[in-house]
Amino acid sequence: MSTTTEGLEDIVATHSRICDLDGKLGKLTYFGVDIHDLAHYSTFEETAYLLWHGSLPTRAQLEEVQQQLRANRMLPDRILGLMRLFPTTTPPMDVLRTTISALSAFDPNLQDKSRTANEQRAICLTAVIPTLIASWEALRNGREPVAPLPDDTHAANFLYMLTGQKPDVYAAHVLDTALILHADHELNASTFAARVTAGTLADLYASITAAIAALSGPLHGGANEQVIRMLLRIGEVSKAEEYIEGALSRKERIMGFGHRVYRTDDPRATHLRAMSQELGTRKNDLRWYDISRKVEESMLSRKHLYANVDFYSASVYYMLDIPIDLDTPIFASSRIAGWTAHVLEQYDNNRLIRPRAEYVGPKVTEYMPLEQRG
Ligand code: COA
Repeated sequence: MSTTTEGLEDIVATHSRICDLDGKLGKLTYFGVDIHDLAHYSTFEETAYLLWHGSLPTRAQLEEVQQQLRANRMLPDRILGLMRLFPTTTPPMDVLRTTISALSAFDPNLQDKSRTANEQRAICLTAVIPTLIASWEALRNGREPVAPLPDDTHAANFLYMLTGQKPDVYAAHVLDTALILHADHELNASTFAARVTAGTLADLYASITAAIAALSGPLHGGANEQVIRMLLRIGEVSKAEEYIEGALSRKERIMGFGHRVYRTDDPRATHLRAMSQELGTRKNDLRWYDISRKVEESMLSRKHLYANVDFYSASVYYMLDIPIDLDTPIFASSRIAGWTAHVLEQYDNNRLIRPRAEYVGPKVTEYMPLEQRG
């Protein structure tokens, strides 16, 4: 058998029209549209449409997708009932994984595998994830969930459901931009998990459940939560360098740094870095931004590693007063657009994904009866 590549590094596993990623140039596009243009001019709703349909929407198409997303924000009562059964200590990512899986039970057309039905499911799942996250935040704190707004943007409604207060315009803009930046990223681990699952012709709920499970680990989406915990441990700018030096000497991984594909600045980090600074300036507290900058400088000079998308999103979410363990679920609330786009693409031209393993175990092991094994 041919030689293996651990972690499938640089292995091209499929054709895709969705996301183009150049790790040397630090360039990222969705259907050819530059991520910087999307971050500057687009909205999450528009970006999701682009990922699902392959082109930017007309005004009428945008209004339609916005309306559909707003119309599908409510949770089935029995999903809320299910959430009430969980111990309040259940991590939000686990609640999200379980409730997304459970939503298949409430799909009246589960047997309809058409593209139209799956596009509708993509909209419903995207619409409902913020409600799932915000509802769990309320329930675990002994409060009743805040019902979603019938209007307002995806991002503004999300922040509203978390706090019960209408967010200020800048906070909603920041979350909206973060959602655009996280919406897709080629064959990352969770998207691959979604495509592998869809490749068996399992349904969309199963595919997204697999994706959420893959996203939760600290080497992938789970990194953002670990970043803010590290920044809190560091506590002040003057301690940042010493902290990094110590952690690296103990061979620890510094979360939010390094990437399988990028060998230069992650284009998404550029926007998150700027928003972290702007939020700090507006709050008159640049501590988290300043510590982040020091850590970044230190990692670049000591390890030649760049900040990835998770690094500055951590301080951004913290300064938006989002509870730390919601950071990774928020990543999921954005990546759902990319996951579902990839699952739709997989179904359109499916072949079972089934690689091989190079066998390195013993060649022949004689079967020894149990009574002779000592
Ligand atoms: N902190 C310290 N060292 C790191 C590092 C980090 N965050 N990321 C990579 N390295 C080092 C490894 O120790 C290794 O060094 P070595 O060759 O001396 O052993 C080298 O860089 C290559 O690392 P490797 O784990 O083989 O790279 P990968 O492509 O498999 O891993 C990540 C990519 C993202 C998993 C890895 O960079 C990482 O663990 N980052 C932290 C978690 C994170 O931020 N994840 C979110 C990604 S968007």
